[in-house]
Amino acid sequence: MANSEYEYVKREFEFDRRLPPSNWIVVRIDGCHFHRFSKIHAFEKPNDENALRLMDTCATAMLKKFPDIVFAYGVSDEYSFVFREETEFYHRRESKILSLCVSYFTSVYVMKWKEIFPNKELKEPPYFDARAVCYPNLKTIRDYLAWRQVDCHINNQYNTCFWMLVKSGKSEQEAQLSLKGTSSKDKNELLAQQFQMNYDDELAMFRKGSSVYREKVETAMKVDYGDPIKRTRPILRVAHVDIIGSEFWQNHQHILREGKCRYEFMKQFDINHMLPPCNWVVVRINACQFNQFTTIHSFDKPNDAVALSLMNESASLMMEQYPDIVFGYGFGSEYSFVFHEKTELYRRQESLILSSCSSYFTSLYMKKWKKFFPHKELMPPPRFEAEALVCPKLKILCEYLSWRQAECHTGNQYNTCFWMLVKSGRSEKEAHETLKGTLSKDKNELLFQQFQMNYNNEPAIFRKGSCVFRQKVHGSDNGVTIERWDVKVDHVDIGAGFWRKHPWILGC
Ligand code: GTP
Ligand code: MG
Repeated sequence: MANSEYEYVKREFEFDRRLPPSNWIVVRIDGCHFHRFSKIHAFEKPNDENALRLMDTCATAMLKKFPDIVFAYGVSDEYSFVFREETEFYHRRESKILSLCVSYFTSVYVMKWKEIFPNKELKEPPYFDARAVCYPNLKTIRDYLAWRQVDCHINNQYNTCFWMLVKSGKSEQEAQLSLKGTSSKDKNELLAQQFQMNYDDELAMFRKGSSVYREKVETAMKVDYGDPIKRTRPILRVAHVDIIGSEFWQNHQHILREGKCRYEFMKQFDINHMLPPCNWVVVRINACQFNQFTTIHSFDKPNDAVALSLMNESASLMMEQYPDIVFGYGFGSEYSFVFHEKTELYRRQESLILSSCSSYFTSLYMKKWKKFFPHKELMPPPRFEAEALVCPKLKILCEYLSWRQAECHTGNQYNTCFWMLVKSGRSEKEAHETLKGTLSKDKNELLFQQFQMNYNNEPAIFRKGSCVFRQKVHGSDNGVTIERWDVKVDHVDIGAGFWRKHPWILGC
C-alpha cells in the first residue's frame, strides 16, 4: 500500500532505540509501590515465601516464553532477565523488549495469583517498571549478577534482624537504632545471642534469592525394542544458590556462553543518536579552560575586544560553511549556533553535527588568530567543547537565546564591577565580598558612585554579546544592482523587537 501523506509521523518522529549488539541485555523488573502492595495483601515480614514463589513462577514462565532469556535472578519485588549476548529479539529494540517483558511478567503474576494465594483476593492490580542495561563482557554481566546477590544478602540480613527485634517488642525506631552502623558479623551475633537463631539456617530462598536457568538433563526414552535411548534436553530450574563465586558458573558454562565474533555485524556498533526532526537544533560551543587561556595570552580584563572580534569572525565564517546555521549568538568564550529546524545536516546525527562544528570552529579560530593578534603566539592550542540541544518550538528557541543574553549581562556587569574594584586597589577577595548579594541596580550604582562610570555607556559588544545573521544587501555588479545575503554582526537586544525587525532569520 502506498504511503499516505501522514506516514511521515512514523518515519520521522518514531525513534527506535536499538540496544548495542554483542552485549548481554539485562531487563530488570521492579514492583511499583510494593511496599504498599505487600501491606494490603498482608505479606509476611520480612519475607513471604508464597509471594517469592509467585515471582519465581513468573520468571520461569518468562524463560519458557522467551528462549533468548538465558538466566534470571530475583529478589524481593525485583527480577533481572539476562538475554543472550547475540539476541536478535525484536531487533534489540529497547521499547519493544522492555514493554513485552514487563507486560508478560505482570500478566503471569495476575494469572497465577489464585493458584498461589487461594485464600487471598487480589485487591489491586500489581504493576512493574523495567529498565534495560547492556553488559559487554562476561566479567561485567557476572559482576552485575553478583551485585544483585550481595544486595539481597545485605537487605535480607538487615530485614531479618529488624523484624526479629520488632517482633520481640521493640518499636521500629528502636530496632533501627540498634542496627545502625552494625556489620554483617554483628548482625549474625545479634541473631544468635538474642534469638538463638543461626542466620545460615534461614531459607536459602531468602538468603540467596532465586536463580532461574535451563539445565541439560539426560532422559531415557523408552523404545519398543532394545535399550532405552538417552537424550539430553533442557529443563527449567529454580535454584537458591551462590552466584557470586565461580563454582556455579563453572558448572553451568552453557548459560553465559560468549557468541562468535561476526564481522558483518560490526557496523551495528555505530549507534548514532539522531536529533528529533522538526526541532531547532542549537549547537553551543564553549572554550575549555578559558580562564587559563586568557591569562597565558594576556587578554584584557574583564573583556578583550580583540578576542571577541576573533570569536565573531570565526562565527561569521561558520555561517558561510554551514548554510543551515541561521543565527549565532556569542559572548565570552561561548557561541550558540542555531540550525534551521529542517536541517538535514549529517541526517541529523548528533555526534557528527557536534564534532564537525567544534572542529571547524577551532580551526577557524586558530587560522584567524594571527590576523587579530599578530604579535601574540598562540600557545597552547585552544579547544572547544560542543553540546547540542533541541527546541521544538520557536518560542523556546527565542527564550533560550534570551537566557544566554541574560547570562551575558549578569556575568559582564559582575566582572566589570569586580575588575574596577581590583584595579582600584582591592584584593580579589575583597572585591568578591563587596559584590556578594548585590542586585543589578546596586552594581550600576557602585560603578557610578565609586568610578563615575555609566554601565550603559560600556561598549554594546560587552553588554549585549554578539549576534551573527544573514542580511540582504544591495550591491552593484558592473553597474547592475544585485541583491546579496551578507553575514552581519550586531550587538543588540535579542528580544521580541529584534525578531519583529528581522523576520527572515527564523522564517517567521
Ligand atoms: P518502587 O519500586 O519505587 O515503586 O517502591 P517499592 O514500594 O516497590 O519499594 P522497593 O522496590 O524499594 O522495595 C520493595 C518493597 O516491597 C520492600 O520494601 C517491601 O516493603 C516490599 N516487599 C517485597 N517483598 C516482600 C515480602 O516478601 N514481604 C513483605 N512484607 N514485603 C515485601
Ligand atoms: Mg519496588
